[in-house]
Amino acid sequence: MTADLYSPIPARVSAVRAESDDRTLRTFDLTLTDDAQPFDYLPGQFCLLSIPGKGEAAFGLASSPTEPGLLRFTVNRVGVVTTALHYLKEGETVGVRGPLGNHYPVDRFKGQDVVLVSGGFAFTTLRSLAAYILANRGDYGELTIIYGARRPGLMLYRPELAEWEKRGDVHVHLAIDQPAAGWGGLVGLVPDVTRKLAPGPDDAWAVVCGPPVMIKYTLPVLADLGFKPDRIYTSLERRMKCGVGKCGRCNVGPKYVCTDGPVFSCAEMKALPEAAL
Ligand SMILES: Cc1cc2nc3c(=O)[nH]c(=O)nc-3n(C[C@H](O)[C@H](O)[C@H](O)COP(=O)(O)OP(=O)(O)OC[C@H]3O[C@@H](n4cnc5c(N)ncnc54)[C@H](O)[C@@H]3O)c2cc1C
Ligand code: FES
Repeated sequence: MTADLYSPIPARVSAVRAESDDRTLRTFDLTLTDDAQPFDYLPGQFCLLSIPGKGEAAFGLASSPTEPGLLRFTVNRVGVVTTALHYLKEGETVGVRGPLGNHYPVDRFKGQDVVLVSGGFAFTTLRSLAAYILANRGDYGELTIIYGARRPGLMLYRPELAEWEKRGDVHVHLAIDQPAAGWGGLVGLVPDVTRKLAPGPDDAWAVVCGPPVMIKYTLPVLADLGFKPDRIYTSLERRMKCGVGKCGRCNVGPKYVCTDGPVFSCAEMKALPEAAL
C-alpha cells in the first residue's frame, strides 16, 4: 500500500492498446516511477487514476500481483476523466492512488474449485484473479472461466484468452450474444450459457462481475445450480470521491464500497437492500 493514500504517485504509461473494435475500451500498462513506494495488492482491488485538470476516477486492477512491475487497467470511455485517459500515450504520466478496497478472498479459495462468470468490460478484475490462480496453480482446484460479450470485437484480452484456451488446466468458455461471422465459441447471454454449462457447486466458489443486469440474472442461476450465497462473490461499483472511507460518497447502507468493498459476498449483499442489482 502507498504510504499516503491521499497523494497520487506518478506512473508511466509503458504500453497502451485499443481493446475493442469501437475504440471505447483501452488498456494501459503502467509502471510506477517511484521505486521507493511499495505497492502490494491482491485481485479485486482498485486504484484512483488522475489526470491534472481533469480529475480522478476508480478503476479495477486488471494485472495480478504475480506480474511484478505491472499495473494494468482497462478504461471504458464514458466521460471527462476516462476520455482524458484515452488520450494518454506511451511514456506519459498518470497519477495513481491505491491500491484501495478489499479483494477477492484468494486464501479461502485455496484447494477448491473457482468459477469466474463475467460479462463485458467488467472482466478486468477477474482477469487479475485468473492470472493470480494460474500463477499459483498448485494451490487451487479446477478453474472455470465463463465470459460473455455482446460481440467478438468487445471481448477483452482476446490473445491472452486464446492462450488460456490452449492450456489444459483452465476451462475457458467464451460467448457472444448473437451469432457472428467467424465466431467459433458459444452464443447466448451469460446467465443462459452458465445454466447450460452448469458448473458444479461442490466445493466451488463463484465470482460474478458484469453489468448489473447480467449479475441480476446470473445470481439466481448460480443459486439454482446449488451455489450458496456465502460462496458467491461480486464487485460493486459506486461513484467515489475520496476512496478511503472519509467522504461518504460511495455508501450502500452502512457500508462504504471503497473500504468495505468493492468485493462482497451475496450473503453480505442480502443484508444490504440498497445494493439491489
Ligand atoms: C471500484 C470501481 C472499479 C471500477 N473499475 C472500472 C474499470 O476497471 N474500468 C472502467 O472503465 N471503469 C471502471 N469503473 C467505473 C469508472 O470509475 C467510471 O466510469 C468513471 O468514474 C467515469 O469517470 P468520467 O470522469 O469519465 O465520467 P463522468 O464525466 O464523471 O461521467 C460520465 C457519465 O458516466 C456516469 N458515471 C460516472 N461514474 C460512474 C460510476 N461509477 N457508475 C455509474 N455511472 C457513472 C455519469 O453519471 C455520466 O453519465 C469502476 C468504478 C468503481 C467504483
Ligand atoms: S469514496 Fe469517500 S467514502 Fe467511499
